[in-house]
Amino acid sequence: MPSNPPPLTPAPPVAMVVFGASGDLTRRKILPAMAALADQGVLKEGFRLIGVARTPWSDADFQDVVTAATPDAGPRWRELTRTFTYVSGGYDQSDTFTRLRAALAEADETSGTAGNRLFYLATVPAVFGHVCQALADHGCSKPASDGAFSRVVVEKPFGRDLASALDLDAQMHAAFDEDQIYRIDHYMGKETVQNVLALRFANAIFEPVWNHRYVDHVQVTVAESLGVEHRGGFYETAGALRDIVQNHVMQVLALTLMEPPTGIGADRIRDEKVKLLQSIHIPSPDEAVDKAVRGQYTDGTLDGQPVASYRDEPGVDPDSQTETFLALQLKVENWRWSGVPIFVRTGKRLPARVTEVALVFRPVPYLLFDRQTSRDLRPNALVVRIQPDEGISLEFGAKVPGERFHLRSVAMDFSYDESFAGARVADGYERLIHDAMVGDATLFIRSDEVEQAWRIVDPYLQAWSEPGAGLTFYPAGTWGPRLADLLVERSGDTWRNPVLPERAQPDGT
Ligand code: BG6
Repeated sequence: MPSNPPPLTPAPPVAMVVFGASGDLTRRKILPAMAALADQGVLKEGFRLIGVARTPWSDADFQDVVTAATPDAGPRWRELTRTFTYVSGGYDQSDTFTRLRAALAEADETSGTAGNRLFYLATVPAVFGHVCQALADHGCSKPASDGAFSRVVVEKPFGRDLASALDLDAQMHAAFDEDQIYRIDHYMGKETVQNVLALRFANAIFEPVWNHRYVDHVQVTVAESLGVEHRGGFYETAGALRDIVQNHVMQVLALTLMEPPTGIGADRIRDEKVKLLQSIHIPSPDEAVDKAVRGQYTDGTLDGQPVASYRDEPGVDPDSQTETFLALQLKVENWRWSGVPIFVRTGKRLPARVTEVALVFRPVPYLLFDRQTSRDLRPNALVVRIQPDEGISLEFGAKVPGERFHLRSVAMDFSYDESFAGARVADGYERLIHDAMVGDATLFIRSDEVEQAWRIVDPYLQAWSEPGAGLTFYPAGTWGPRLADLLVERSGDTWRNPVLPERAQPDGT
């Protein structure tokens, strides 16, 4: 039976301040999420949005931008929009924060925001530390009155390597306590990622096989068919390791491989995630070279259309050494996962957009059946499809109808669309902004998680610091460089094809 989720907890009164209010993230993600929350009745009395950015807008200009960014919003959001205000100014100017403070006082006075503040840093990372310090200097980082809260939501990237991440953390902690800081990784807002917890800890049948005794290896794929679009300039400073692996992949791995937490409270879950991250082996420089394949896309074809090489994208250096593809072999050094290779691959301009985690199981001790007639039998696998076509599949071997023992792989499938038809699946941002408003930090990244994730990836950055170190090329529209296949084949495995239908076809193909 389809069941609709229970209504969301209403937000307390709050003034939400978005730094970077004129930017892309605000328009594409934050404002639509806020509008959806308003229309679900989350934003009751006492809400005010204050935009801050350099662009010289008036309140009315900002309200127009909000309206344009949320064309489908309902009456509640429309009504709220008329109260939104805007502070124009540089983040390095004290005056900006003096005026922000006055705007906050006015919001408390006329919108009843009760001294509660949610600061959202949707800016370039270079100003995170500075904005936090300026907020502290202007008395905004501590609760404005007894019982009020002051929280800061910060977007990735949290640093660009271990040293800069530690530095940023120190700057943020000089202004805010850890329990005031909500670090967003939008993968944690995805229903399917959260469902890993339900799959693992609400079901008895998976736990006995969720370990090195049964799992042969784990594969994580985060594939995108898009290129870098208009973000070439940013991507040049990032690359796949910083953009996807240090954050999204590490978060997904932590939830998939961690030990059962002692409860579902924010710190209970995050304690286990950190322990798992601490168990991921930190490679030596040689291992970092040997167990990683970096690639960059060249011209190619996607969906029958020619696509340009990465080096021809706007904002990209024609001699760029940035990786748009990465395959890694990781290992987890603990009792549960010792000896189980963890293969990760991510890339832009791959043949499809698909994100999945697959636990690939060991083969049977002895196969009774003829190898020739069971050649279509793949190892058992439990696959969490994070997107698209969200769901979970259990792949196993079955007999093809007929006289002899022809075997092939089939799948038992759970699909969100089918099981929860009609239920609205919230965008990750909606869920995360709501949680920050109500003070639930479970899905946000704690500072020790960020630090540990950087400790794992830092050696790769160091190993690649030489120009051109280990960069290989792949045509756009393919699954990455051939070397990435060899990385897996060395362990006797192959990458799964996450796009081919993994279900039984009526014609047996
Ligand atoms: C972002 C990266 O964090 O995640 C982007 O900066 C990437 O480069 C995006 O495209 C992928 O997110 P999703 O939700 O589409 O998988």
